[in-house]
Parts: sequence; C-alpha cells; structure tokens
Amino acid sequence: MRKIFLVFTIASSILISCNNQQEKQSEARDSDFVAKSFKVANAQLSTAIDQYQDLTKFPRSANPDGTLHTRAASNWVSGFFPGSLWFMYEYSKDDKFKEAAIKWTMALNEQQYNKGSHDIGFIIDSSYGQGLRLTKNEAYKPVIIEAANSLMTRYNEKVGCIKSWDWSDNWKFPVIIDNMMNLELLFEASKLTGNDIYKNAAIDHARTTMKNHYREDNSSIHVVDYDPETGEVLERVTHQGINDESAWARGQAWGLYGFTMCFRETQDTVFLDQAEKIAEFIINHPRTPEDLIPYWDYDAPNIPNEPRDASAAAIIADGLLELSTFSEANAELYLSRAEQILKNLSSDEYLAAPGTNNNFILKHCTGHKPKNSEIDGPLIYGDYFFLEGLLKYNELKEKTK
Ligand code: GLY
Repeated sequence: MRKIFLVFTIASSILISCNNQQEKQSEARDSDFVAKSFKVANAQLSTAIDQYQDLTKFPRSANPDGTLHTRAASNWVSGFFPGSLWFMYEYSKDDKFKEAAIKWTMALNEQQYNKGSHDIGFIIDSSYGQGLRLTKNEAYKPVIIEAANSLMTRYNEKVGCIKSWDWSDNWKFPVIIDNMMNLELLFEASKLTGNDIYKNAAIDHARTTMKNHYREDNSSIHVVDYDPETGEVLERVTHQGINDESAWARGQAWGLYGFTMCFRETQDTVFLDQAEKIAEFIINHPRTPEDLIPYWDYDAPNIPNEPRDASAAAIIADGLLELSTFSEANAELYLSRAEQILKNLSSDEYLAAPGTNNNFILKHCTGHKPKNSEIDGPLIYGDYFFLEGLLKYNELKEKTK
C-alpha cells in the first residue's frame, strides 16, 4: 500500500512540475511578442535617429511615392516621435534613445505657446509629459504648465468645452472626439500647480462630450459644432469618417482611452461607466474582423474590402489595458482582448520588417480615408500607442506575477 502511495506521489509531483513548466513556458511565450516588437522598434528607431538630423521635420507617415512624410513642430503628430523614443528608452535603458528623446523633445519647446489648436495636448503630453515621467527633469514642468495655459485659452465656459479647430469657416466652435486626449495635459497642470482651474475645465469638457458626442449605441460622432455664445449644439457631423452617422474607428479609440484617463484622474465613476460602454461597443461590434484590427470605419461600405487602421487598434489595446485595472466586472475580458490585439499587431502582418516601412514600426494604419490620405501605411501615433500599450502590458504582467 505504502509503495503504491509512493509511486502515486512521485507521479503527481512529476505531473505538477510538468504543468508548472508548461505554465512558465506559456507565460514566457505570452510576453515573447513584447520582446519581438521592441526588437523591431529598437532597430527602426536606431536607424531613424541616425538618419533624421533636421529637428524641424517630425516623422509622421509615408508619402504616396513611398518616401518619408514629415511635418513641422506645430503639427498635431510632432510629439509622437520623441514620445516613441522615450518609450524605447524606458524599455531598453539605452542612453542613446534618452539623448535622442531629449533632443527631439526640446525641438518642441516653442509649441508651449501654440494657441492655434487643441493639439497642444497631444504635442506636449507625448514629449515633455513622457520626459517628465521618466527623468523628473524640473525644467520640463514650466513647459507643461505654459502649454496648459495655451490650451485653456480655447476653453469656453458657455459651451463647456475646449475648441478643437480654427481652420473651417463652416463651423463656429467645433469639438472633435479626439480632443478627449488633450485633457491629460490639463490634469497634469493641476497636479503640477495645485490649481484646479485646469482640471475643472477638463472635467467640464469630458461631461459635455459625454452628453453631446455619444449615440444610444455608445458610438461617437466625430465633430460637434457649438454656438460659442449660447453653448447650443449646431451640428453633428464627421470629418474623417465615412458619413455623419458612422463610427469612425479611431474616434471610438480616442473616446475609450480618453474617458478611461478621466476616470484615472478624477475617480468619478461616471467616466468609468462611459469608458465601459465604449469598450462594449468596440468589443462586441459585429464588423470587427477576426484578428481584432478594425477597419478604418465600423460602417465603411465595402467591409471586408476596406483598409484596416492598426493605429486605432493600438489605441484601443492601450485603453483597454488601463481600463482592465479599474473595472470590477470586466477586468479579465479587457486584459485578454488587449493582449490579443497586441499579439496580432506583433505578427508579421502588422509589424514592419527591420529596415522597411520608413523606420516606422506598424503597417496598415489609415489616417484620413475620405481625403484619400495616409491609407494602409505607417502612422507615427500608431507606433507611439503601440509601444505604450506594450509597456503597460509588461507592467501589468509584472504586477500579477
Ligand atoms: N486627431 C486626428 C486623428 O486622429 O486623425
């Protein structure tokens, strides 16, 4: 009897140890995609910092002829190249990326005074904001505060929002869903100054957006135009989607990330609920393809023969990862969905081969389909949110070990 018990015990220990090994292997396999993607990012960004020496030309995407498309410091995307370098430094601890990130961040110094659009939030958060987080460099703080002051000049109490664009005569006070992302700059400025004026404007903007940008199915309209005198909604339209009633994919992603961030900064569950509703729309959408990388617009007419938007997928994964840390009911669902998206983005279908793709990391992003611009190619913000998502995923895995 004792012999049988001994044999049983040894057999079970072997089984348990095999299972543990399998678990460890599968855990290692799970994060292999993070290592693989950062290896590609390292190669691409190393070449980029060697090749790109003109600090007035910020990598944005590819031109139709295949050459690199760059934009000036004032363009909404300018912070994402330095931001990607900051993330690469965070992962690799390689000083060459830190030096490059500092150099490209400093090249945006004048933007702190840019009052010409809401995009100052994108520009400064992704560059100076990430730099401050990683280096605690005191010199970055006044830049962030000044940038928030610039953004505040676009806030209208009557509307309860920050004005997005000035360039159209058709609109009086356009607010786009993307603008949710710029609120992070205001929350940061309140933390740095101890003055709630910035934070209160951000909360006002988020609440107004929740009320006027969202439909019953929890999808978002792209542009809401307001009367700046009365705060009345004048029109609800699209700019980058297929039509006014459609769900432009990146717009849904901005909303998801934006409301999740608002909950992080305020702990007001109204924003958590909103983020969860958006997540539900995205996760359960019947026209999401099997690999979870959305078509550029959920209502594009020729699905499945429509371009994908890997940048929207990266923002969605990134947002879902943070939301998974807040949600009581759906943490597992959000985490596993985000993991799947990041894994798929790390596949050869979406991840560039080193030395290709104009040194960008992701392929198959779509910028502005109705304008026939930046279709099915790289986009610097796709790379930025992809890297941020991978780092967040690593951090979460580390915490649950
Ligand atoms: N903020 C512009 C875009 O998402 O294309």
